[in-house]
Amino acid sequence: MTLKIGKTNQIPAFLAMQVMQNAQHLEAAGQDIKHLEVGQPSTPPPAAVSRALTAALDHTAAHGYSVALGQPVLRQRIAAHYQDWYGLSPDWNHIAITPGSSLGFAISFLAAFDAGDHIAIATPGYPAYRNLMVALGLVPDLLPARADQHWMPDLDALESSGNLPDGILLASPANPTGVVMSDDDLQTVCGWCARHGVRLIMDEIYHGLTYGRRGSSALQFNQNAIIINSFSKYFCMTGWRLGWVIFPDDLVDNAEKISQNLFISASTINQYGAVAAFDCYAELDAHLPRYEENRDSLLRGLPSEFLGQHAPADGAFYLYADISAVSTDAVAFAQRLLNEAGVAVTPGVDFDRAEGVRYLRLSYAGSHATISTAIERINRWLPTAG
Ligand SMILES: Cc1ncc(COP(=O)(O)O)c(C=O)c1O
Repeated sequence: MTLKIGKTNQIPAFLAMQVMQNAQHLEAAGQDIKHLEVGQPSTPPPAAVSRALTAALDHTAAHGYSVALGQPVLRQRIAAHYQDWYGLSPDWNHIAITPGSSLGFAISFLAAFDAGDHIAIATPGYPAYRNLMVALGLVPDLLPARADQHWMPDLDALESSGNLPDGILLASPANPTGVVMSDDDLQTVCGWCARHGVRLIMDEIYHGLTYGRRGSSALQFNQNAIIINSFSKYFCMTGWRLGWVIFPDDLVDNAEKISQNLFISASTINQYGAVAAFDCYAELDAHLPRYEENRDSLLRGLPSEFLGQHAPADGAFYLYADISAVSTDAVAFAQRLLNEAGVAVTPGVDFDRAEGVRYLRLSYAGSHATISTAIERINRWLPTAG
């Protein structure tokens, strides 16, 4: 007798996580691996955050559930963060604390859309958007955002196709390209969504990680946008599994009910620690020169045939390298690079199932030593890769 299995078995694996698992197997067998596959800082959160977490151990309430949308004190502190960084005053009651921004996406999709609705996403883009949408019965419409379009989706082309989606999800800075939208572009997208009645979901998880001016938030230009962010990247708290969403007025009730039923509350004790993160901008900003230097070392030190027509890398901590001069099978190439040179990277097909076969994503969030050893290994290995 065959038992029922959900159609979610058709969802592809998240390759970056798969590569990380393969790398850990090699490490368990005694190999030294340089990790450029997963986008996570190699540094701990600020000491004040860890101290706040430790102090919370003595509070009985920190060991229980929080209300579904999260501790008011943390939501109020996040609202103040929007004042500090963007001069905005969002209502803290509209801010939801989520188990990573990953669940923030799930809540947003469930709150704003129904099965069968279409959401446009830029390609290449973060794979979980697409995979989660499919799991929830939503239809991802892939908008090309490739090198010949300056890595930005063409909304005029979308408009003239006559098939307007119900929603559009964009990220700036973007993963895997590191593209940072200018204020003009952001304003144009926000206005376009407002004009066409398309719900904008803006992934701002890499805010704070720009190597020039700090970018604007879509909240400045579109009051109906869903704004997603996280403690994982700028705040160096990937494993804490905390993110946040700013919902527009018409979605807050839905989001609260979904949160109650999906996970009850995000980790309460971690929320006690996270409040302190917003007093640590200077300490966190101090990581930026290291990321920038790592990026520049990769651009200077990697062979030109390995970098190809790489994407801009103006934000986040990724380099999206065009390896077409050396391979058109990024999955096999990344596998060999891991096994033969001990460097873990993510094949582009994670982000773009069609053209990603010609790309690799390299995370430069690690230490200088990790990046320079990876560069040496790639330079030594590439001529032998045949
Ligand atoms: C663009 C983007 N959005 C969302 C996430 C999810 O992050 P988290 O669930 O840790 O907040 C990631 C993780 O790498 C990402 O790159």
